[in-house]
Amino acid sequence: MARKPMMAGNWKMNNTIAEAVVLTQEISNRYEKEWPEHVDVVVCPPYVDLKPAKTVLDFDRTKIAVGAQNVYWEPSGAFTGEISVPMLKEIGCAYCIVGHSERRELFGETNEDVNRKAKALVADGIAPIVCVGESLAVRDAGTTDEYVCAQVRAAFAGMDAADAEGAVVAYEPIWAIGTGRTATPEQAEAVCAAIRATLGDLFGSAVAEEMRVLYGGSMNPGNVAMLVAQPNIDGGLVGGASLKAESFVQLIEACL
Ligand code: PGA
Repeated sequence: MARKPMMAGNWKMNNTIAEAVVLTQEISNRYEKEWPEHVDVVVCPPYVDLKPAKTVLDFDRTKIAVGAQNVYWEPSGAFTGEISVPMLKEIGCAYCIVGHSERRELFGETNEDVNRKAKALVADGIAPIVCVGESLAVRDAGTTDEYVCAQVRAAFAGMDAADAEGAVVAYEPIWAIGTGRTATPEQAEAVCAAIRATLGDLFGSAVAEEMRVLYGGSMNPGNVAMLVAQPNIDGGLVGGASLKAESFVQLIEACL
């Protein structure tokens, strides 16, 4: 079965509740009849916007899903400032980003943390969107595939094929995030193919063929078509271009 493409908007630390409701409503207003069958659309707002965004989408009866940008792996307890999987579940989050390079770089998140988060999510039925990607130094050293595939192995350590099935991997070269400098379709495809081969080693080729591998890093309406045309790129995890309904909708439609 062909993989269903996915377009996921990572809003990062943007949009107050009022702004999030407006943006969600604008995207929802453009929800077309043919989308649900052909592409999974996900918006990943900040924690405080999750419930308001979900309420708008539920009211409009769209199949646009809501995802969080982070989570903590313990279900409850003395972890000031953290948010747990059951909390996300109650809101109705279907996805949660883990291991974004900004969390790894700015907040010290390790491969082990990413693994704990991914395991806690799949145990409770939320699909992780596992982010991996190399710095410019790693790319220049010529070790991108080894580096990224090691991140994939670490993120999925201790999981079996049943756990991994619904999970999504997002390949996001750090040098392309928010810089306007996109990986070429060939560069992105080469790494996404290596990621899928690694998923095949871990979970068997049948499962790896079903798992979505997204590209992220300055994806925009001008470059999306070439990227999603690649055989191992199943859509995008998009920052900047997901903050305006107009551009996000163009990205969704490029997946049809
Ligand atoms: P960008 O961000 O599209 O703004 O480069 C992508 C991401 O960090 O997920």
